[in-house]
Amino acid sequence: MNENQVHSVKWQSPSNIAIVKYWGKRPEMKQIPQNPSVSFTLSKCRTETSIDYKASDRFGLHFRFDGKENPEFQTKIAEFLKNQLSAFPFLNEIELHINSHNTFPHSSGIASSASSMSALVLCLMDIDRELNGGEIDLQRASCLSRLASGSACRSVFPKMALWGATEARPGSSDEYAVSLENEIHPLFKTFHDSILIVSDAKKSVSSRAGHALMNGNPYAESRYAVAKNNIVNLLEALKKGDLETFIRITEWEAMQLHALMMCSEPSYILMKPNTLRIINTLLEFRKETDIPVCFTLDAGPNVHILYPDQHAEMVERFIMDELEQYCVGGQWIPDQVGDGASKC
Ligand code: PMV
Repeated sequence: MNENQVHSVKWQSPSNIAIVKYWGKRPEMKQIPQNPSVSFTLSKCRTETSIDYKASDRFGLHFRFDGKENPEFQTKIAEFLKNQLSAFPFLNEIELHINSHNTFPHSSGIASSASSMSALVLCLMDIDRELNGGEIDLQRASCLSRLASGSACRSVFPKMALWGATEARPGSSDEYAVSLENEIHPLFKTFHDSILIVSDAKKSVSSRAGHALMNGNPYAESRYAVAKNNIVNLLEALKKGDLETFIRITEWEAMQLHALMMCSEPSYILMKPNTLRIINTLLEFRKETDIPVCFTLDAGPNVHILYPDQHAEMVERFIMDELEQYCVGGQWIPDQVGDGASKC
């Protein structure tokens, strides 16, 4: 590589929302989950990352988020890169200028580690490809993304992804996610996820701390058994287009995730009063209309409303009329299942 020449790569990667949740890692292992998880890949909530790089006699890292220095992210990235020198040996002879930007509102309380870490890994793999040749392998991208942030491994694939070994899906692995794009009913390929922003505050408990608390949780073993069983039934429902089973598992998983937080030691509550108001109003709406719409929650107070494309108009009108009042600043993001990571 020419000493003074600056090269650039740019990738975008989406956020994802889990249906069966990853909550708990195997102790003493590198980001190996206690149970398999399945998620929808989103389209509007994305991170776009570009890296300008040039030859250097030592490793150099400059990180900007939305054009501004961000010491918290910079430290997280530096730690990840230090641990990944064997995957990216060129890092010792290169200076990186990373610029990252989220397409979703900066303070929406939506976790961006899945989208940002997978976009970063794909940029690094692209630099490797430019320097050493070869192709970008999505399975390897998923594996390296997992090491940066567990759920990031699912973001690289379109539509839906499964992370974690299960007998129900040959080829599945604890080390990387696999695409479910060709194994799901068309109904799920255009599913909507309207993200209702109940609070835009930073999470009070990091997911790293949340996973760690599962190690002393008295219900941990039964949770992992239930999640493994939910995966088997969910994969079947996704294949058949069985919305009733999909809705039952999706809501049960969201409630279990929060129940686990409430019975860890110390315990904590991430739902807010408006989270419950939204859930109750939604359940009433489903009862009255019979529209197959349901909710899920991430590790926070925001509510994800999931529904098939054919009901989009009715559900979105309902959100505007009945639920928007519970959102901070009336904010919600009409997202939909998307196409996974790509080069820009
Ligand atoms: O990838 P992490 O370590 O941020 O954990 C993600 C945990 C949940 O978002 C709550 C569930 C999941 O499977 O995405």
